[in-house]
This record gives sequence, structure tokens and C-alpha cells, in this order.
Amino acid sequence: MANDDNFKKVISHAKEYGYVFQSSEIYDGLSAVYDYAQNGVELKNNIREYWWKAMVQMHDNIVGIDAAIFMHPTTWKASGHVDAFNDPLIDNKDSKKRYRADVLVEDYCLKIEVKINKEVAKAAKRFGDAFNKDEFLSTNGRVLGYQEKIDSVLKRLGQSLEKEDLADVKALIEELEIADPLTGSKNWTDVKQFNLMFGTKLGASAEHATDLYLRPETAQGIFVNFLNVQKTGRMKIPFGIAQTGKAFRNEIVARQFIFRMREFEQMEMQFFIKPGTQKEWFEYWKDARLKWHESLGLGSENYRFHDHEKLAHYADAATDIEFNFPFGFKELEGIHSRTDFDLKQHEEYSGKKLQYFDPEENESYTPYVLETSIGLDRMFLAVFSNALQEEDLENGTTRTVLKLPAVLAPTKAAIFPLVKKDGLPEIAKQIVEDLKWDFNITYDEKDAVGRRYRRQDAVGTPFCITVDHDTLDDNSVTIRHRDTMEQKRVKIEDLKALIKAEVEMKYWLQRMF
Ligand code: GAP
Repeated sequence: MANDDNFKKVISHAKEYGYVFQSSEIYDGLSAVYDYAQNGVELKNNIREYWWKAMVQMHDNIVGIDAAIFMHPTTWKASGHVDAFNDPLIDNKDSKKRYRADVLVEDYCLKIEVKINKEVAKAAKRFGDAFNKDEFLSTNGRVLGYQEKIDSVLKRLGQSLEKEDLADVKALIEELEIADPLTGSKNWTDVKQFNLMFGTKLGASAEHATDLYLRPETAQGIFVNFLNVQKTGRMKIPFGIAQTGKAFRNEIVARQFIFRMREFEQMEMQFFIKPGTQKEWFEYWKDARLKWHESLGLGSENYRFHDHEKLAHYADAATDIEFNFPFGFKELEGIHSRTDFDLKQHEEYSGKKLQYFDPEENESYTPYVLETSIGLDRMFLAVFSNALQEEDLENGTTRTVLKLPAVLAPTKAAIFPLVKKDGLPEIAKQIVEDLKWDFNITYDEKDAVGRRYRRQDAVGTPFCITVDHDTLDDNSVTIRHRDTMEQKRVKIEDLKALIKAEVEMKYWLQRMF
């Protein structure tokens, strides 16, 4: 299936099976704002819990907080967001469409990358088992030319953005003959900076209202609480503070479903360290976060690191963990070495000392910070799009199956009576009653069993359990596994342990530690 078709399928499946709805759909929706539906909210909660357990519960030196979305407006002056949280935008004069100038250039490079992938696929076919991809990439003249082009374009873009040379960004777009993706027009305006924060007001009357911002990242709620947590928790460096919560950005290029939203959720952790140790902690958290992703079994080949050429105003090193989304490799998580920028800025703007007394060194210093920051909605999209598969079956039919990691699946088991009589529904409902204390369980007695299996496959339920007439004699049921479709006969009393062995967080998290 072409990638575009694949992505459209993901979006329509998410709606049809109760995962994600367009916000305010009855009023034609609100662009780049989405609601999580009955199954979506369970998947989202499970991802959040999986992150929280790995980061907070499994680390004795990381604690969590839940800071407010509204913060004192000076926070955003100190953090640099008022002055520097901008996107470079460009308008097309003919179509009147607005684009992020850097994204236009990056998309241009992605198209060259597609050409490289085509060359690789062609050569792999030609050489068969003897094909060595790394050797091909480093020796094939055409591929090397493509790669050189990508590198030089991205380098120039990075340098122009760094120097705030927006005229050169426009010149680059014109030199590369980049056209409006919708209309093909190359009639561009100049590139301008646009601040992404949403403003709002606090106060009962217009004259006395204070201007506030909706937070564009959760991180600042952690920085302003650094001393409170350090003192009340008697935390010793190195230590971390973790938080999950909503963030808001007035994204201009708001495409790609829940990948880029105006209201979204972040899962962030700031790790406070001794100055000078940031390089080793950067490597540590790169490794730890990749292991977390890999523990979910979405395939190691679907992740890659992308080191930043252009560093944010607060960072001395930064990398993205990119995921292979239906529209290609894109940022899923950021790992940033933020130096002492934020604490120093808050010290200056608040006039309060935000330092740490190190008893081993017998000195006070401003800690450095290593940050891991992942978008919960992006993680949802990564998990969901990776799980959606169409399988050809041996009997010539196909099935749509959502192979979610069992630990994250909204419903762990569906219980069916084979028929709606002979006492079978009563036994099935009793199984629901017994299992619901431990797992999310659903009951279904409508339609033939085959159709009920298909419904649960599409919604991603790892187990289907059928009560039949033999159950009346042997107290056993048939349990069917979503991924293998294998069916086994098991005692009702063994069901809980059997399900637990596959869905328990401990079993999955152990893969990363
Ligand atoms: N505190 C650092 C920070 O906010 P960021 O790279 O701007 O860094 C971190 O954002 C993560 O938040 C991203 O890797 C992405 O997963 C997620 N994110 C950012 N903007 C988003 C948006 N508009 N919609 C959904 N997720 C977003």
C-alpha cells in the first residue's frame, strides 16, 4: 500500500474503532485539535502509565510533579519563549497558503531520500543475498550525489536559521525551485518569524486582567519547582523530576493528524546533574530512552537518532529519536542537554537563588540539566500506525488486525458465549465479573463467533475467550490469541494467570532494565 493510502487508513480506522475523533466534529471540527474516544483514552492512559513506571517508579532518584498549566507570565520571558519561540513562515502569494519555510526545505530533502531508498531497493533485488547495503550506500556514485545534496542543503538551512538570515532561507527555497505542494506555484513572500504561544487573560475585568500564556512546554513547571522538590524531597544530585501534561502551540503547519496538534500532551523529565557531566548523561539517557521504545516491540529498524545541527537557544547538545511513521521518519522524542540556562534565567528574573549545595564537593553550584521530552500523542500515533495491519489469510480472505503491544491494548480480553442460550451467557458474564477486577474486559454475544473475532482483531484486543457447550461439562473455555489466531482449551480458573503473563507491565518493562 502507498504510504499516503496507509496513513489515510490509519486515520479512518482510528475513528471507526473509537480511538480518535476530530474535535467538535458536529461543527465541522477545529483544525489540529482532536478528542480521544473510548478506546483511545485507554491506549493513551496505558502509554502514559508505561512511561511513568519506567521513569519514576523504576528510578529511586526520579520523582514526579503535576504543575499548573497557567504560570506567572515572567516565566516565559525568562525561558526565552517570548522572544525566541518562533517558526519561520512563508506564504504563497497565489494560493494564499502558509508554510513553515524550514519544513518546505526538509520535505525537499525527504524526496531525495526516497530516491536513495529506491536505488537501494533496486540494487537489493539485483544482487540478492550478496547485497551489502552499507557498502552500496558508501560507494554508489548516484547515491553519494543524492546524499551530498541533502547534506549541503540541510547545512545551509541550519546555518541561515542559526544566524536568523531569513532572506537566505527564502533564497534557498527559490534556488531549489520549491513549489507550493498544493498548487505548484513558486510565487513566495519573504520569510517571517511567528511566535507560537497562545495568549489568554487572567482576571474578572478587562482593565485589571493580566496577560498569560498557555504553556508551550511542561518543562518550565519543573524548573520553577526545582528548589521546592530538591529541599522537600531531600534529593541529591543527580536526580530527576518528571511530569506529564498538556502543552499548547499555535502550530501553523497543522497537518498529519495527531502528529502536530495545537493542544497536545508531553511526558518530560529534567535530570539535574553536576556541571561537566552532561556528555555522559546525554549518552546515558539516549540509550535508556531507546531501550524504553524497543521494549514495546515495534521493531528496532523503525527508530533512528537525528542529531541537531541547529541547537535551540538553551542547548549544548540535542538529538531526536525519530520513528518511521506512515509519512516517513519524523521526530518522536527529543533528548536535550540544556546546560544551566533555565535555572540561571529563572534566578535572574525572580531574584531567588536556585542553586544546589553539594555536600561531597562542599560547594554550591547551578546544576546542569539533561531533558527527555516525548509527545504522548506522537507516541500514540507511532504505536497505533505500527499496529495496524492487513493480513492475507490461508483461506484466501484478509483480516484487518490492530497488533497493539498487549500491555498497551485498551481491552485485554473479550468474552463470548458461543450461543445466546443454554446457560452459556451466564457463565461468560461470570467470567467477566471475575476478570474485571484485574483487567479491562468486554462482553459480546452478537453475531457469529467469526465476526466477533474480526471485530476484536480490528480494535486490538489480545485475547478472545469463548464459552461453549463443553464448558458446561469440563469448566474449560477456548482462548484465541489475536496475533497468531491460535486457539487453546484452558480451564476457567487459569485464565487470570494466562492473561496476566502477557499484559502485565512488569513483564514488558523488564526488557529495558
Ligand atoms: N521541553 C522541550 C520541548 O518541548 P520539543 O522538541 O519542542 O521540546 C518535545 O517537544 C516533544 O513534544 C516532541 O518530540 C514531540 O513529540 C512533542 N511535540 C512537540 N510539538 C508537538 C505538537 N504540536 N503536537 C504534538 N506533539 C508535539
